[in-house]
Amino acid sequence: MRLLSRILALTLCLTAAISEARTFEEIKQDGKIIVATEGAFPPFNFFRGPTLTGFEVDIAEALAKKMGVQIEWRVLAFDALLAGLRQDRWDMVIASFAITPERSKAVSFTDPHYCSGGVIVTKNPAIRTAQDLTGKVVAVQTGTTYLANVQKLAGVKEVKNFPKDTDARTALMSGRVDAWVTDKFAAKSALEASASAGLKMGDFVFVEQIAPAVRKGNTSLVQAINKALQEIMADGTYEAISKKYLNEDIRCR
Ligand code: ARG
Repeated sequence: MRLLSRILALTLCLTAAISEARTFEEIKQDGKIIVATEGAFPPFNFFRGPTLTGFEVDIAEALAKKMGVQIEWRVLAFDALLAGLRQDRWDMVIASFAITPERSKAVSFTDPHYCSGGVIVTKNPAIRTAQDLTGKVVAVQTGTTYLANVQKLAGVKEVKNFPKDTDARTALMSGRVDAWVTDKFAAKSALEASASAGLKMGDFVFVEQIAPAVRKGNTSLVQAINKALQEIMADGTYEAISKKYLNEDIRCR
């Protein structure tokens, strides 16, 4: 009897854990998908006045159109995004998250929507390579692969964490740090946006594949997103959005 009730309790727990995430069929029936992003990582997801915009916002809208659903957007701090998938507060996250073994334990990634990597940005042209960061103070956003990878570099004097990548950029602009490590395209757009600040882009510190994430094990949603992604990559939609924000096609090759 005791064994039976234990088995019953365990089964209930497991069913609760598995059945919470909305399948694609349920999302489709509802007609809307809840998508969360940060809104502070230009040119990928950011605000122009009151409007959420960017490469990833347009890509998500194009995916939703192919999937036959409307997006209900949620905007949250970067470090809250993946945790919310577990709690079923939203169906999908698109916020330039790279596919890493660590994150793959907690969430399921779809196919990548772009390929990029972390680069060094400085005001000092003598700092270009990972070696040049020896003895230097480096700014990065908390919870990112930039933080993890800069921490691996032996000689760095100090890694300064900022809740937002744009705050790490500000720290570099105001001379509080020697370097900022961020996404290559985020760096490119920062250089363009403040041409007079004298920012220089150095080498890649590492490369990575960036993908949308859903709740761990939500296979039907992963498949639906992958199918939509293939469609927008084949019909020119992806290329147009990529050129609009990045001036080039940034799909993985
Ligand atoms: N690509 C990096 C990572 O995977 C940084 C992502 C930053 N995204 C953002 N929305 N601020 O950790």
